[in-house]
Amino acid sequence: MKQPFIFETTFQFGLEWIKEAGNLIMSVFEHPRNIEKKGVIDLVTDADKASESLLINRILDKFPKHSILSEEAGYTTGSSEHQWIIDPIDGTTNYSRKLPFFCISIGYKVANQTQFGLIYAPAIQQLYYAKHQFGAYRNHQPIQVSKTETIQDAFLTTGFPYTLHSTEEHNNMPLFSYFSSHALAVRRLGSAALDLCYVADGIFDGYWEVSLQPWDFVAGELLVKEAGGKVSSFSGEEVPMSKSSIIASNQPVFLQMKEIIQRLC
Ligand code: IPD
Ligand code: CA
Ligand code: CA
Repeated sequence: MKQPFIFETTFQFGLEWIKEAGNLIMSVFEHPRNIEKKGVIDLVTDADKASESLLINRILDKFPKHSILSEEAGYTTGSSEHQWIIDPIDGTTNYSRKLPFFCISIGYKVANQTQFGLIYAPAIQQLYYAKHQFGAYRNHQPIQVSKTETIQDAFLTTGFPYTLHSTEEHNNMPLFSYFSSHALAVRRLGSAALDLCYVADGIFDGYWEVSLQPWDFVAGELLVKEAGGKVSSFSGEEVPMSKSSIIASNQPVFLQMKEIIQRLC
């Protein structure tokens, strides 16, 4: 008989806290936003900061020794090998304009292995999670990646880095152009964590992005893997815990995307 998930108690806390943070950001959704710019097109709102404070406070109250890597606050170094990776709002630009595709993303690693990932999109009531070796779920129902076999039939999604206006480095346009004219369609939702959820859920067949940060991908990467998909950097390696390119898709589309990306980059 399969042993129960050993981080279940911690997972249940994460579940409770992500819902609480979701309720918090929805409670101020209709209020005028205090929006600051971290870069030319990189926004942060008062709601990102409130969601982040709530999550960090809850984690440190319960687990004072755990480490936290969070988008706005950076590192909170704890002394244990348990690490929480938080994006307090993924899709801030959508949130600030009231487009409902945004979410909160929480990954939990122990000794560098992601043990669970939680992604909650409160405006559309979608709760995604995965537990290492225990599958991936949407609103508590198991999910699987798609069975699409070719790029021609693939429904793809991507995103663009916030350095788009200021540097040609890691330009995504050649890939965007190629896939737009060779795949079924390409979308740009504005939330990397949701892009990954929708690959895990078989809605999209594949996703790629350059210059993604750990808080954008750690939870979603586990979802795709636990739903039967593949995730790697553009070079085909494990995605490192630093700024990285990423490909995520079902198995047959992954091989084709990787070959095309390596040819064009
Ligand atoms: C961004 C979103 C977007 C992606 C960017 C991310 P943020 O995160 O996930 O889809 O294209 O690369 O930085 O700033 O909204 O948390
Ligand atoms: Ca993000
Ligand atoms: Ca964010």
